[in-house]
Amino acid sequence: MGSYQQLNPNSQKPSSTTSRGCIISKRACPWLVSAFLALAVLHILCCSPAGTQQAVLTPVLQYINNTYSFVSSVPGEGNRNCNYSEGQWVRSPGYAARYNGTLCNVKASHNCILNGRPDTGYLDWRWQPDGCPLPAFDAKAFLTTMRGKHVALVGDSMARNQAQSLICLLTASYPYRLLHQDPEPNKLNFWRYAFPSHGVTVSYYWAPFLVRANGKPEDDSIPYNYVHLDEPGDRWAADAETIDVVVLAAGHWLLNGAVYYNGSEVIGAHNTPEFNNHTSVGYAWPLRMAYRKAVERLSSGRPRTVVLATFSPSHFEGRPIDSPTACTMMEPYKKGEKELVWIYKEVRDIVYDEARAARERIAGEEGGGAARIEVLDVTTLAAMRPDGHPSVYMQRDPFANGVPERINSDCLHFCLPGPVDTFNEVLLQILKKRR
Ligand SMILES: *[C@@H]1O[C@H](CO)[C@@H](O)[C@H](O)[C@H]1NC(C)=O
Ligand SMILES: *[C@@H]1O[C@H](CO)[C@@H](O)[C@H](O)[C@H]1NC(C)=O
Ligand SMILES: *[C@@H]1O[C@H](CO)[C@@H](O)[C@H](O)[C@H]1NC(C)=O
Ligand SMILES: *[C@@H]1O[C@H](CO)[C@@H](O)[C@H](O)[C@H]1NC(C)=O
Ligand SMILES: *[C@@H]1O[C@H](CO)[C@@H](O)[C@H](O)[C@H]1NC(C)=O
Repeated sequence: MGSYQQLNPNSQKPSSTTSRGCIISKRACPWLVSAFLALAVLHILCCSPAGTQQAVLTPVLQYINNTYSFVSSVPGEGNRNCNYSEGQWVRSPGYAARYNGTLCNVKASHNCILNGRPDTGYLDWRWQPDGCPLPAFDAKAFLTTMRGKHVALVGDSMARNQAQSLICLLTASYPYRLLHQDPEPNKLNFWRYAFPSHGVTVSYYWAPFLVRANGKPEDDSIPYNYVHLDEPGDRWAADAETIDVVVLAAGHWLLNGAVYYNGSEVIGAHNTPEFNNHTSVGYAWPLRMAYRKAVERLSSGRPRTVVLATFSPSHFEGRPIDSPTACTMMEPYKKGEKELVWIYKEVRDIVYDEARAARERIAGEEGGGAARIEVLDVTTLAAMRPDGHPSVYMQRDPFANGVPERINSDCLHFCLPGPVDTFNEVLLQILKKRR
């Protein structure tokens, strides 16, 4: 975890302009809008004929009906056309306490309960997408849907966080074998589990830039990332012909900065002061190229599903990483309470763009192409969970000797169990969808 530098939004420049919908202060805006709506509804109810009342009330009732339809819907039956990306967290005591992280070998710094985090309120929330229910993770449905397949999660430490969550959710109810794990102590960078009952294997490949990267990604003591935008990550690419389903997740390291290569030629740098003799390329273009290169490699060869995960934001929110109060919120944000930082929006949009471009490219290929491209949009649901990070409980019993003045916090990854389990709930619904 030492390798994660927090993002400083001030060091980034927008590569697109964002517009604000409201000129008044952000706090006053929702109030004004709701006040206006209330007056309008009141006006129609008092002053208009019955037909108009019906026309106004029906959509409102339908909205309420949709929002709460999970009560009456069959559990486990996801809506095939549902969009899970926008919604709200609703209180549901104990809902997210799915497994014991100690029993599934999670990274020590994500094992919040073992590390002594005293409050468990962050396990009392369920994601309610707008307009449809999200079924709880069902290990049997996952293994049945993936029968005989190799599922790989490829990317940065958020991809690992999700991969570990998936292993915990599956091993809590099915027998497994650990087939491989690289011996580096406490890194958990390359590993593979087998689920013999269904012939499923699940792997994690460390590739924080998706493409080949030397320097810091291999050795934390090296200050720079040397990133080859013309070559997919070597470890996962070598196994590509065995992979049926792949989740790609990257972004944080590209925001942090790197020196970028095409072949042996340096084509630019970002946030790397000693290399400012090279063109500054920002993060958006390299991010596009990295996803594009990875998807290109995966859209040839065997038919497979390629899932592009969107950015899962951190919650340092300008506080230093070693402040004891870097992220100490106890509850999720409410819908509309906190606007998504523009960088995070932009990074999410790049992933959608690349998915769209890949689909178009594949559809234009002879025979229609063999890869199915999907987006796993976790940005909003993750952004609304400042309470779900390890915070100071990334270390064991942080306050055993009193409250230190300076102590590192993890405000990026999620506790296991925790909100990242929801990523896999959405993933399962995507995988269950027919082509
Ligand atoms: C609410 O949902 C139920 C079942 O899905 C449906 O039968 C009913 O007509 C809906 N009501 C409205 C007002 O849309
Ligand atoms: C979900 O809805 C959002 C708008 O709310 C849209 O931008 C996005 O493309 C949709 N996502 C998927 C996976 O269809
Ligand atoms: C998790 O498992 C460990 C090891 O068996 C056990 O000591 C611990 O009490 C369990 N934790 C919870 C919260 O059940
Ligand atoms: C690398 O160079 C090749 C050959 O000039 C070019 O086709 C390709 O687009 C370049 N790739 C990137 C990521 O710049
Ligand atoms: C730019 O700076 C780096 C690091 O100081 C150096 O290795 C490289 O040779 C320089 N490149 C050019 C084109 O001057």
